[in-house]
Amino acid sequence: MTTDNADRTLIIRGLRVAPMAKPDHEILQGIDLEVAPGEVHAIMGPNGSGKTTLAYALMGHPAYVITGGEVTWQGRDILKLSADKRSRLGMFLAFQYPTAVPGLSVASFIRSALNAKLQGIDKNPDIDPTDAIKGGVSMLDFRRRMREKLALLKMDESFVSRYVNDGFSGGEKKRLEMLQMAMLEPQLAILDETDSGLDIDALRIVAEGVNAMLNPDLGILLITHYQRLLNHIKPDVVHVLAQGRIIKSGGRDLAIRLEDEGYGPILREAGLEIDVPDDALRLDEPAVLAH
Ligand SMILES: Nc1ncnc2c1ncn2[C@@H]1O[C@H](COP(=O)(O)OP(=O)(O)O)[C@@H](O)[C@H]1O
Ligand SMILES: [Mg+2]
Repeated sequence: MTTDNADRTLIIRGLRVAPMAKPDHEILQGIDLEVAPGEVHAIMGPNGSGKTTLAYALMGHPAYVITGGEVTWQGRDILKLSADKRSRLGMFLAFQYPTAVPGLSVASFIRSALNAKLQGIDKNPDIDPTDAIKGGVSMLDFRRRMREKLALLKMDESFVSRYVNDGFSGGEKKRLEMLQMAMLEPQLAILDETDSGLDIDALRIVAEGVNAMLNPDLGILLITHYQRLLNHIKPDVVHVLAQGRIIKSGGRDLAIRLEDEGYGPILREAGLEIDVPDDALRLDEPAVLAH
């Protein structure tokens, strides 16, 4: 791997994470993972295996404490950086449960995120994001870029004048996530898809959005309980997370095996003790999707 590529690869080594409330109770117990530019890595695992904890730890969520290991990205130890700085470094972290901000329009919200990102992690004083001559994005360019991304995601222009997540359906929240990602053009995207109630509409929006944005500079960590999303987004690598560790990595066939067998057999193969019946470890669609 060249030095350049190493900087553009997310490198996770021996990552251990505990909840702030119970710092001696580690949820993640030594995660090793590398996501290079252009690669899509899927993380699958039974409920409670630590998938969301991994996403939160990577985004710097204050409810979690890092008890060991390191994470480097763009040549920096990101665990020392605030969530805000991580995003200035080109990381995009989609929220599983985004909050509503009545009074703030989607356009203003994305414009301030974009402006913050333009200043870079060290807040280059020569760059004035509000001034096109000083490296900023003019209102005209911003609108042009917004129109281009709306078209890419097949979204209506009226969407951007609505208030952030205010009265949004599940599908609309996903659309906003995809639009933010398209506008911010991250080099690393971490998407945590919900374990339950991922309706067909939301699934399609995420799949189409991600596929429209795939490019050789973008690494993606796609966290998902159901293999079905992987019918639409083709992962390069599939990892199985169980009891806080990656117990197996493989290709897409691994996800297909999980769909057939559930998590039971693969967990046993890894020598893990399972205290629930195998049926509880199947990837069956939630009842709401059955019809
Ligand atoms: N903030 C927290 N405080 C205490 N326990 C937590 C916290 N977050 C997660 N856990 C516990 O850690 C385990 C893994 O949770 P999570 O990362 O949400 O798993 P997954 O997303 O794979 O379902 C679960 O047993 C959960 O109850
Ligand atoms: Mg989760």
